[in-house]
Amino acid sequence: MIAGIAWIGTSFYFVALDFSLRKEPGMPPGVGGEAWEVHGGGFYHVRKYLTAPETLPKDLIWFKWEAYLTWVTGFLLLVVLYYLQADSYLIDPNVMPLTQWQAIGISVASLVLGWVLYTALCKSPVGRSTGLLAACLFAMLLAFAYGYTHLFSGRGAFIHIGALIGTIMAANVFMVIIPNQRKITAALLKGEKPDPRLGAIGKQRSLHNTYLTLPVLAMMVSNHFPMITDNAHAWVLAGLIILAGGLARHFLVRTEVGDRHADLAWTIPLICTALAFGLIITQPSKLVLFQGEVSDAEALSIVQTRCAACHAEHPTDATIKVAPKGVHLETLDQLKRYAAQIEVQAVQNKAMPLANRTGMLDEERAKLGTWIARQ
Ligand code: HEC
Repeated sequence: MIAGIAWIGTSFYFVALDFSLRKEPGMPPGVGGEAWEVHGGGFYHVRKYLTAPETLPKDLIWFKWEAYLTWVTGFLLLVVLYYLQADSYLIDPNVMPLTQWQAIGISVASLVLGWVLYTALCKSPVGRSTGLLAACLFAMLLAFAYGYTHLFSGRGAFIHIGALIGTIMAANVFMVIIPNQRKITAALLKGEKPDPRLGAIGKQRSLHNTYLTLPVLAMMVSNHFPMITDNAHAWVLAGLIILAGGLARHFLVRTEVGDRHADLAWTIPLICTALAFGLIITQPSKLVLFQGEVSDAEALSIVQTRCAACHAEHPTDATIKVAPKGVHLETLDQLKRYAAQIEVQAVQNKAMPLANRTGMLDEERAKLGTWIARQ
């Protein structure tokens, strides 16, 4: 998240800078535009050389580690949480009874496949029209979201949509933007004229990256919202997040560079519609309650058998060492204290028990719901 925030900052900054460059009289040869900026107690005068300056400055600041660190740390987290503990986090036998290695294989292969398809799209004739490319990319991400939600657990699926988008973004930097920049630099050092297409391609990929930043952030934290990850239409929600996030980026960056709000107004109804659909889809379904009395003792016994393997002072579950999120579910007082959260996690949604490892029955969920409703 921290590396990602730094990355998004530079990504937004440079794309906004690109849009705010103006041609002024008296600019040196090779300069495409310049901008004046004020920040932190001083004024900055920034110029963009369309391909490269005549001579290369001695100290050149590269922007790449934000992207690399986001991907590397994100991938390590994916390994530690989702690969090493695949049974808890990645696999849901009710969705698809995969083995740990099958799940890991699908995960790695899908990330590579996503990048290969994306690059092929960019290089195909489709890539020449930004609008058509955006539509194809959206359809591709939607297809992956559909696939992931039908292969992995809810949280596993969402983290993979994020990982796929993040991989495309980081690979854009690692495989295209920085290598092109290096070719330009190398040509200059040899005293040759660099190919202007190299810069243009880098700019196209940077532009794509800005549109993907906000959805990827939402995917990173999606795990904390079971109403999204465990929704029956989770892949549609993923599509809505990508749509609303991309449009929000358009509005934000174009506002920053001084576009009139009237020219950007079209994004607002679209963002609101996407959010409204999201609200409708995530409406808690009518709770199925148990018809009859549920005593305190019965509610407590359900929680003790289905939840306390993990949510206890001394968890007995193989992978859980301390009660997750400090939620202890062993006594009636604790049950009452966490009632609202239990309802969200285990009655309205089936986010808990994790991957239903303790085999909770629907009737038990209904009974807990009835007991909580009477509190
Ligand atoms: C196999 C282990 C396991 C079992 C069994 C389990 N949980 Fe959890 N629970 C977890 C983990 C792991 C988290 C932390 C999830 C996260 O970080 O998003 C958690 C988090 C929670 C939270 C906090 C959610 C939040 O984001 O604030 C609640 C509430 C909860 N569980 C309720 C339950 C209930 C109720 C049951 C039984 C019906 C249950 N859990 C069974 C592992 C388990």
